[in-house]
Amino acid sequence: MRRPIIAGNWKMFKTLDETRAFFDALIPEIQNVEHCVIVVAPPFTALATAVEEAEGTRVLISAQDVHWEEKGAYTGEISVRMLKDLGCRYTIIGHSERRQYFGETDETVESKTRAAVAGGLEAIVCVGETLAERDAGQASEVVRRQVRGGLGRLTAQDLSHIIVAYEPVWAIGTGRTATPEIAAEMHAEIRKIVREIYGEAEASALRILYGGSVKPDNISALMRKEDIDGALAGGASLEPASFAAIIKYL
Ligand code: PGA
Repeated sequence: MRRPIIAGNWKMFKTLDETRAFFDALIPEIQNVEHCVIVVAPPFTALATAVEEAEGTRVLISAQDVHWEEKGAYTGEISVRMLKDLGCRYTIIGHSERRQYFGETDETVESKTRAAVAGGLEAIVCVGETLAERDAGQASEVVRRQVRGGLGRLTAQDLSHIIVAYEPVWAIGTGRTATPEIAAEMHAEIRKIVREIYGEAEASALRILYGGSVKPDNISALMRKEDIDGALAGGASLEPASFAAIIKYL
């Protein structure tokens, strides 16, 4: 059985006061939730506060990115050890916004994923095609290249600390969610690629989240699909009420 994960990616939103207010409102709402793992990914500046707020609750804290080196002259970067030190348990890697605007490649995704797992973080690795790629009939090919390039040369042990997030770029922040059928089809495809590389046991244990305009009103239909093991929500994770509603998708 794959334990579902509902994760929220705050992107570049929320000050410390806003972070505290978010947790104050969220925690009472999710007190009794046991059916899924809950992850929140605030910006770096709010991580320490989020860890403090989430202590003793069911919420685990994630970074949105991490550097692959342990330390060094890398101005502006944050290492795995720094995140661990703060109490972070997860990190997102290879989000499409980082691929689009900040030069993230399959190669850097692989380096970051290796570093994260070696340092004891769970890595949420994002893949997904653009609209132009989907319209050109290349969605599967693009995702295959991203999975092979970013995750194709790890050990099976490493893979057990990785969660894949399928986030079609055309669905992110657009209000245009992939239908459960389209999402499920690509999730099955990702599982197939992982099966080809690592084998049956690894593929069937791998959790694959869907991301892209996940909202309280579409989460249940997505979660009913066999291959969809959770969600990575952006916009809808910023409001405690809508994030709580997504968490309580059952
Ligand atoms: P969205 O973002 O839910 O606002 O579409 C999802 C993501 O980018 O992780």
